[in-house]
Amino acid sequence: MDKHAAYIRGFAERTDNFEYYATEHFRMSGVYWGLTALCLLHRRDDLDGPAIIKWVLECQHEDGGFGGSERHDAHLLYTLSAVQILAIYNELDLVDADKIAKFVAGLQQPDGSFAGDQWGEIDTRFSYCALLCLSILGKLDAIDVPKAAEYVASCRNFDGGFGCTPGCESHAGQVFCCVGALALADSLHLVDRDLLCWWLCERQTPSGGLNGRPEKQEDVCYSWWCLSCLSILERLHWIDQAALSKFILFCQDEEDGGISDRPEDMADVFHTFFGIAGLSLMGYEGLEPIDPTYALPSAVVDRIRQRNGAPS
Ligand code: FPP
Repeated sequence: MDKHAAYIRGFAERTDNFEYYATEHFRMSGVYWGLTALCLLHRRDDLDGPAIIKWVLECQHEDGGFGGSERHDAHLLYTLSAVQILAIYNELDLVDADKIAKFVAGLQQPDGSFAGDQWGEIDTRFSYCALLCLSILGKLDAIDVPKAAEYVASCRNFDGGFGCTPGCESHAGQVFCCVGALALADSLHLVDRDLLCWWLCERQTPSGGLNGRPEKQEDVCYSWWCLSCLSILERLHWIDQAALSKFILFCQDEEDGGISDRPEDMADVFHTFFGIAGLSLMGYEGLEPIDPTYALPSAVVDRIRQRNGAPS
């Protein structure tokens, strides 16, 4: 745990390399991955909270949305990450929730779907981002929630899975977004639980790791995309958790910290977060529990629910 924490801290400290600039456009999500992983390792305060909060606020645009970094266009992906970071630091009062809600609501389309930004790409990832962002802010009433759920349900396939738009192939990353969105919209009755969970548990390969689609290679991040759904749908016991834990642990860099997509590959913050998050969902000893729908530490979600007046 010490090595993983040091590995994540290293990203915050090293700003003079190529990787730092090459990842500029998605830094907001990078900060969310690293910070949430540190929270699960009980080391939230390893990062400079006040500096991060200041930077997050600098990335907000006049229209209420946040960019992936300073000088980058506002997008739903980074607006969600920004709101998640502020929720972790219990600093949601620093932003105007109505202004952010207006930005999100402005991206909803007549069919209930969401565009990611002003340029109009539609994807069920953005439905999840919109619903989660507004749920954290206590502003779900800014959008047409039943219509949002109806659109997500229209992306359901014959195998029980979901794709990015109607008719698109089922993909575990999109399944996560759709199940999460339906959970937030209180519409899980639109999921065929047994059919979908059977498809999800078939993602486990002989290595113990999970893949994202049939015939694909296993990858640590699917420990999160698949497991969170199985957890939301109360079928976590349908996969071999001991084998999956072993696979994730095999992907650790035992010298320098960090977790990679599969054994022997190079570690990165994305897979480090999703590996630790997967272990947390399986109750791995010593880790903080994570909420499968909010992708935030459970303690943060309890605080959000209290703030928004819902029972925890
Ligand atoms: C796999 O992508 C993952 C997805 C498509 C889901 C992404 C979800 C979000 C961005 C929503 C926010 C998420 C959280 C946790 C708050 P990939 O491009 O790696 O797929 P591939 O394995 O097929 O290449």
